[in-house]
Amino acid sequence: MGDVVSYSREGEIAYITVNNPPVNALSLPVRQGLQQCFQQFAADGEAKAAVLICDGRTFIAGADITEFGKPPQDPWLPKVIHEMEALDKITIAAIHGTALGGGLETAMGCHYRCAVASAQVGLPEVTLGLLPGATGTQRLPRLIGPKAALDAMVSGRPMPAKKACEAGAIDKIVDGDLKAGATAFAKELLAQGAKPRRLSEEVVDTSGIDEHFFAEYRNSVAKSARGFFAPEQIIKCVEAAVSMPYADAVKRENELFMECMMSPHSAAQRHLFFAERACSKIPDVPADTPLREIKKVAVIGGGTMGGGIAMNFANAGIPVVLKEINPEALDRGLDIIRGNYDATVKKGRMSPEAMDQCMGLISGALDYAGIGDCDLIIEAVFENMALKKEIFGELDKVAKKGAILASNTSTLNIDEIAASTSRPEDVIGWHFFAPANVMTLLELVRGAKTAKDVIATSLAMSKKIRKTAILVGVCFGFVGNRMFFPYQREAGLMMLEGVPAERIDKVAYDWGWAMGPNGVADLSGLDVLVKVKNEWTERPDDPTLWVIIEKLVEQGRLGQKTKAGIFTYSGRAPVPAPETAAIAKAEAERLGVAQRTDMSDEEIIERLMYSMINEGALILDEGIAIRSSDIDVCFVHGYGMPRYRGGPMQYADSVGLDKVLAAIEKYRARYGDTNWTPAPLLVKLAKAGKTFAEWSAAKG
Ligand code: 3HC
Repeated sequence: MGDVVSYSREGEIAYITVNNPPVNALSLPVRQGLQQCFQQFAADGEAKAAVLICDGRTFIAGADITEFGKPPQDPWLPKVIHEMEALDKITIAAIHGTALGGGLETAMGCHYRCAVASAQVGLPEVTLGLLPGATGTQRLPRLIGPKAALDAMVSGRPMPAKKACEAGAIDKIVDGDLKAGATAFAKELLAQGAKPRRLSEEVVDTSGIDEHFFAEYRNSVAKSARGFFAPEQIIKCVEAAVSMPYADAVKRENELFMECMMSPHSAAQRHLFFAERACSKIPDVPADTPLREIKKVAVIGGGTMGGGIAMNFANAGIPVVLKEINPEALDRGLDIIRGNYDATVKKGRMSPEAMDQCMGLISGALDYAGIGDCDLIIEAVFENMALKKEIFGELDKVAKKGAILASNTSTLNIDEIAASTSRPEDVIGWHFFAPANVMTLLELVRGAKTAKDVIATSLAMSKKIRKTAILVGVCFGFVGNRMFFPYQREAGLMMLEGVPAERIDKVAYDWGWAMGPNGVADLSGLDVLVKVKNEWTERPDDPTLWVIIEKLVEQGRLGQKTKAGIFTYSGRAPVPAPETAAIAKAEAERLGVAQRTDMSDEEIIERLMYSMINEGALILDEGIAIRSSDIDVCFVHGYGMPRYRGGPMQYADSVGLDKVLAAIEKYRARYGDTNWTPAPLLVKLAKAGKTFAEWSAAKG
């Protein structure tokens, strides 16, 4: 294997080339190589300018994330960048692909930057719970101004090269071959007698900044940054950039960076970075499994779920047929889709032309014959086994050979559904999360006979429609709902014990959930939960389970859709409902549930989270989820768990499984074995001082 960074020269131009697949991350050998090659350039009397360029698919895409959390190794990046910038001969970064994080920081250590038009540049560290800690928080404000730099760093969103060029982050867009264009640019600069432009020697342009600027900025991001640690640290760095000399501000950046690095938030967000990439790797389904071709899709059922599912495919440019049972239902379904697109256009997030294009890809059908030529058929009718079996029986008759037959069931047994066809190998679960056109999770459910190429094709298609998919096994509720049931069970039991629904939701929200459990129940529909309970034949023998919800449904309080559920709704805002408190009181008396006046916020979180985590441990042991990080991806993408907690299993690992177990034992002593018997895997790992992540890694 050649050097990861190499030095060459053609005439007066030196080339420093990074070759560290897959994304040229700044691992220790790359930092060492950059340092040595720039020293070689300084010593090379024939070289007048140096071009920093990368082989492979991208410019440097950042620091090597696998090195984080370990002791830093010299030379560390700020030092390498400082040495590059200090050179007396000009240096030019030549960018293709993505110059991200440490990659852009390295490019900003060069005196000039050029890029191909398809390139993107950005500082996405915030998404890893970090800040741009290799002088990025100091250099970007000097390049593009403090406001634009804050926007880029607090959102973490990369900028297309042209926009970056307009903003001043890139000096030149290169047409055609990057190396040739960068060489021409270097020669042009030499001809002009251009001097090294050292950002560290420049001052930040504060002309647009008044005394209220930072307070207003904090307010403007308060909602999107709620609970996250890194955004505030980034703002502090930019405050330092505008108020301190460069060298002092860099020291401040380093202190704030180390605080981020040591925070549980960053550990959680870095965990998710790798979790989101691991979940598409299936041990017994090789990455090169041949895929089935998916050119046309059908969705059975044009309700809210079916319509949302159809939109995903249209958005990806794939024709989709919506099958309904009569013209009225079909029109209603198509109207809902049109309404959704209309709202997106009105918000300015979609052009009317793009909407027309998507609507043009969606057609309707009233009989099964109309979907016979589809390559992927997704059934999205309501949760009823008999109905689903009937539909799959029909699909078996009409679907073309090799079509993938998917069910959007959220709980039911895929094997039983598959058994109603003569081709169970083509059947798989595709469980979307509401609203299906928005939520990014897809739970793919593997039946006993599901073919490997059906799994591989489903995973590839999920990427095409911009979903993050996890592959799970068959059990009631699969991974997500099976773990969410105990969470909702505890919310219900705490209400029976006299804790107001709004308090439970506030504690959950403050902990970071997008919504509390009661708000989620109202949004999903309380009648849906009652139907699920009725289908759940092997549920724990617990008379308190969702009993308040059943009573609310008896009163016609079905949730947000009837403007009354656990809460009452004025618009979409929940208002505490005395009716719910009254039901809770009456049911507690009937069932003999002791009232609690001493419930701490900590107990509320423990009972919500640990009940869920205990179920997660059972799921792992049973092999329903492949690895604990898949469960984490599930809750972050499908249930609104905050990224900075990393998902339930990562959260448990960060708390310590011994502490989780001790709390579960405490609740078992109080509430009995039915709901609080610790999962054997949790007990085993807690005793061995291990984590779910370590167990998953050892399993392979
Ligand atoms: N460090 C280590 N590994 C990385 C990495 C990084 N910065 N970026 C990507 N990888 C790995 C991935 O884990 C993946 O590994 P796998 O094949 O074993 O699963 C492989 O590279 C390919 O990555 P993707 O699957 O994500 O490839 P894509 O082509 O879809 O995306 C990308 C490429 C846009 C570069 C994307 O990988 C990405 O966003 N990477 C992270 C960029 C980033 O956050 N950079 C900032 C790092 S923090 C930093 O620089 C701190 C500094 O300020 C001090």
